[in-house]
Amino acid sequence: MKTLAFILGTRPEAIKLGPLVLHFRRYPRDFRVHLCLSGQHREIAQQALSVFGLKPDADLDLMLPGQTLYQSTSRILSGLEPVFESVRPDLVFVQGDTTTTICGALAAFYAGIPVAHVEAGLRTGDLRRPFPEEGNRQLVGRLATLHLAATVGARDNLLAEGVAADAITVTGNTGIDALFHVLARLPGFDWPFLDSRRRLILVTGHRRENFGEGFDRFCRALRRLAARPDVQIVYPVHPNPRVRGPVQEALGGEGHVHLIEPQDYEPFLDLMRRSYFILTDSGGVQEEGPSLGKPILVSREVTERPEAVAAGTVRLVGTDEEKIVAEATILLDQPEEYERRSRIHNPYGDGKACGRIEQAVRAYFA
Ligand code: UD1
Ligand code: UDP
Repeated sequence: MKTLAFILGTRPEAIKLGPLVLHFRRYPRDFRVHLCLSGQHREIAQQALSVFGLKPDADLDLMLPGQTLYQSTSRILSGLEPVFESVRPDLVFVQGDTTTTICGALAAFYAGIPVAHVEAGLRTGDLRRPFPEEGNRQLVGRLATLHLAATVGARDNLLAEGVAADAITVTGNTGIDALFHVLARLPGFDWPFLDSRRRLILVTGHRRENFGEGFDRFCRALRRLAARPDVQIVYPVHPNPRVRGPVQEALGGEGHVHLIEPQDYEPFLDLMRRSYFILTDSGGVQEEGPSLGKPILVSREVTERPEAVAAGTVRLVGTDEEKIVAEATILLDQPEEYERRSRIHNPYGDGKACGRIEQAVRAYFA
């Protein structure tokens, strides 16, 4: 019997580790599974976990409103020490590139416990973009024992950094397992404010490197698009006060721009399904869009997820107001181009990543 500890703190980690926790719990004779929430996110991580019917075994409940990186990092790192002392895991799982991810890996390293990194090997090569995530994932890449890469490209990034080939497994992204799990039984939701005569642009935005002028330009572009007679915008606004404040100020009360609360994963997928296209800086949404056949405009200068850009589904638009409006106008006014970019394909996974990770873990312990 091996004890596996899953450390997660934010919405995307809950969505991407949720199916993996469920998967390992199917083998109670082989694995004892401990699910620990750092509490980096309070409401939206719980929201995401509830989709899988999962309850944490421990919740450090550490979120502070408007927390700084120093605050969340120091609190999560020291909060994990007693958890590892009492649970004594044989392997610690972390996912992605958040503060919880780096703290989980570092705390495990200090405790002498090996680390499995889910979604290993994503790189832009630019430490400032995304910030601080690129730094976090590079650091976790130095600390991890098992590197679970979603794509061949991510594996190649790790190989280029000197990670041994036999420490890497290409698994597909567990986010696609989550997507298929939920899509298979996704009900329709009621959106009374939607106008059936207007096409829906779904928007999300929360990256730290876009705070300030970047967000202002982004919001100006949204106002121009919403002025079209055939468009409506739905924007579930991230709870970070540094996002919420400026977005409310720039777009609150704007006709045909619906600023709504962060959505549970199921209704959010329903909105994705109903959208004409998506404008986002989210990592997870970039992966889900191609699986749903939705063109994505990514409001970032670079992406660590180049596969869908190469396939044509994703286009980088940064936070340049003119570029966002121009690229959105192409999708809205050029049906052939729209069709070309809305082909369904899954460069990030086939929904079977959890099984491959299980095999990699069994091989490791064997
Ligand atoms: C974090 C991650 C980012 C990830 C994003 C996913 C870091 C450094 N950043 O960014 O990589 O893409 O989560 O959403 O790890 N808040 C709430 N309730 C919640 C969640 C957040 O009120 O449920 C507010 C709090 O005021 C909190 C603030 O949002 O202090 C910022 O949260 P934090 O996790 O530090 O950063 P995010 O911008 O959410
Ligand atoms: N998501 C959600 N509700 C929302 C917005 C996003 O459930 O209101 C989901 C989305 O489908 C994706 C994940 O949250 O699976 C992405 O999280 P986020 O954009 O916060 O973080 P990132 O992926 O950029 O780290």
